[in-house]
Amino acid sequence: MHGTRPLVALLAALLMGACGEAHSQEGYQPRGTSEPFGEMPDGRTVELYTLRNANGVVIRAITYGGIIVSIHTPDRDGHFDDIVLGYDDLEGYVRETPYFGAIIGRYGNRIAQGRFSLDGDTFELATNNGPNHLHGGSKGFDKVVWEAESFVGQEGVGVVFRYTSPNGEEGYPGTLEARVTYTLTDDDRLVIDYHATSDRATPVNLTQHTYFNLAGDGSGDILGHELQLAASHYTPVDATLIPTGEIASVAGTPFDFTTPTAIGAGIGENDEQLVNGLGYDHNFVLDRGESSQSDLYQAARVLEPVTGRVLEIYTTEPGIQFYSGNFLDGSIAGKAGHTYHHRYGFCLETQHYPDSPNQPDFPSTILRPGEEYLSQTVWAFGVSGGSQGS
Ligand code: GLA
Repeated sequence: MHGTRPLVALLAALLMGACGEAHSQEGYQPRGTSEPFGEMPDGRTVELYTLRNANGVVIRAITYGGIIVSIHTPDRDGHFDDIVLGYDDLEGYVRETPYFGAIIGRYGNRIAQGRFSLDGDTFELATNNGPNHLHGGSKGFDKVVWEAESFVGQEGVGVVFRYTSPNGEEGYPGTLEARVTYTLTDDDRLVIDYHATSDRATPVNLTQHTYFNLAGDGSGDILGHELQLAASHYTPVDATLIPTGEIASVAGTPFDFTTPTAIGAGIGENDEQLVNGLGYDHNFVLDRGESSQSDLYQAARVLEPVTGRVLEIYTTEPGIQFYSGNFLDGSIAGKAGHTYHHRYGFCLETQHYPDSPNQPDFPSTILRPGEEYLSQTVWAFGVSGGSQGS
């Protein structure tokens, strides 16, 4: 018995050596790495996480706001570009940002007058968008530093972000433990998992505010992108972008994206809703039919015809906010000195409907103690036509 130990150790060493060799032959390297990205004004370090898959797709995200700062994917000829808007450095994100790439919470989109009632109590939230509360308030989840940890799992390589929002933060009740995980798979999907628990009943509606330009960051406006949404209805809004409560049909309106349609095709029409939104800035009601809330459902497909890049979005959420970059006005100098002119990026924010805490007929956004908030969205990157065609 005695003599077998060295033999076992030797075999183990040989096996490990063989594996190491195999890895280096395949160019294996850890595919989730982190490094400092910058310093907050109070001296805290913000880390940058890099996720890389076997096809060379690279996604970078930082601990400030869980912001996705870049996504590099190939076009139909295999040429890689960064397809999201943002800044080169932390200072840009801290100084001023229209939520580039960020996690949005506690509540994505607007709550009318920054007020809601729940179980007999009325809560007052920060009003940071005219008379309304937007994207979690003055200092939402996009403006806090998250704890982070990278991992390599069966599904792919990822990073998990954690943030504890104290009771009363921005006016919301309850201590909210939030967790958002980004997993990059080897079939070029980014899986975004949202999880939260609370010790008091509170509204929660987490989303992701990446601005895409599938032709490449800073390359022009997004009006030629062809968009398809699995939504035969949407929620019209008033002049302050609060839903009127109506679930309106898109048929015969510029909101009909049930078949692939260029974003620019109807954006200039004289339509009251387009006037209110200064373009598209609306929640679309997904045609989920009987599919259960925990099922992934294909909400959107976007094709950029020149590069052939395709983005498909799957979600467990009942709605998706389509925002056509209407507030971009050329005043922001972003990555690589790119100026972000009108409509140089678009957002597709999977979510529950805006102002749900004040709209009893909308699906509920209330999370209660003992329950788990679970939401998943998948961005599938691909190309259409050409050598890598799908
Ligand atoms: C969301 C809102 C828009 C705008 C953008 C960011 O899409 O609905 O009105 O605030 O975020 O500018």
